[in-house]
Amino acid sequence: MRVATDVWDLTEMPDLSGRRMVVTGVTPGGIGWFTALELARAGASVVLAGRSASKVDDAESAIRAEVPQADLAPLSVDLADLGSVRLAAARAASYGPVDVLVNNAGVMAPPYARTVDGFELQMATNHFGPFALTGLLLPQLVASDDGRVVTVSSPMHRVARRAPLGDPRQPGSGHYSRWQTYAQTKLANLLFTFELDRRCRQAALPVRALAAHPGFAATHLAANGRYGRAKGGRATILDATIRAVAQPAADGALPTLMAGVADLPGSTYCGPSGFRESRGLPVAVGCTSLATDEVAQRALWELSEQATGIAYP
Ligand SMILES: NC(=O)c1ccc[n+]([C@@H]2O[C@H](COP(=O)([O-])OP(=O)(O)OC[C@H]3O[C@@H](n4cnc5c(N)ncnc54)[C@H](OP(=O)(O)O)[C@@H]3O)[C@@H](O)[C@H]2O)c1
Repeated sequence: MRVATDVWDLTEMPDLSGRRMVVTGVTPGGIGWFTALELARAGASVVLAGRSASKVDDAESAIRAEVPQADLAPLSVDLADLGSVRLAAARAASYGPVDVLVNNAGVMAPPYARTVDGFELQMATNHFGPFALTGLLLPQLVASDDGRVVTVSSPMHRVARRAPLGDPRQPGSGHYSRWQTYAQTKLANLLFTFELDRRCRQAALPVRALAAHPGFAATHLAANGRYGRAKGGRATILDATIRAVAQPAADGALPTLMAGVADLPGSTYCGPSGFRESRGLPVAVGCTSLATDEVAQRALWELSEQATGIAYP
């Protein structure tokens, strides 16, 4: 189902001077970097949040090469480590009000691994970390008086057969499917968004939650997931193959930018308007009935509060 609305493009980007935006996963070449670049170009103060200080430095230099006057600040955060998320949020407290948090960082289909907190790696990185970061930054989003949380999901959410509602610290009894797990984390991104938006409305908080997906975009996601790196040997070949068939990463950032700045109600999900939502200018798009299941939304929320020890709003 497609929700009727106009396509959005960069000519509609408002002046973002005086607004602070936090973007996670800003490594050059990815959706997060292009998102941060366009926000900085529009005048926003952008917090570049990433797990590798050197990659965040690279991201900062590469943005400054295009936008010399960019207002940028680095923030070190490993979303797969709740201790790191807490430290990052404590440092971010000094930034004052946050207008937009973009939960972009993610991993896709890596080999099975468990994090220091005992979670499966994809669920930790793609859902529990962003859940915790959002909760810890919520007071600053509220302080902006018009806060937004944009979480980057995927068309792969459609592949999820069920919501990830099992005990996150217990390995499932069956075989680990890296793709089914990825799909479940992207379903979790939508369940989280819709529940967060509803909870903020019920609590009369001035914060909206929206979601976006980039379609099929030429980033390092597949190589990072498969080989744990974006360059070298087979990773380079996989990256080049994806670049040949996918839309440019810059175009993949447009749905996130639309969700972040366009005049849209909470719970809007933005994605490309072209062939099977794989490419093209962004519009509001639909999602599966699993994603709009309010019982699953509530259950995932409660499970995430218990798992992270962070309850909100
Ligand atoms: N590309 C697509 O076609 C596509 C399609 C659908 C959805 N998406 C979604 O788009 C988002 C961005 O992905 P991308 O395509 O731009 O891939 P990418 O180029 O691999 O970027 C992913 C970013 O997430 C960061 N990251 C990974 N694990 C992290 C952690 N534990 N803590 C902090 N940051 C971490 C990466 O940092 P490092 O460089 O340090 O690893 C990198 O900056 C993801 O949520 C993905 O699921 C992408």
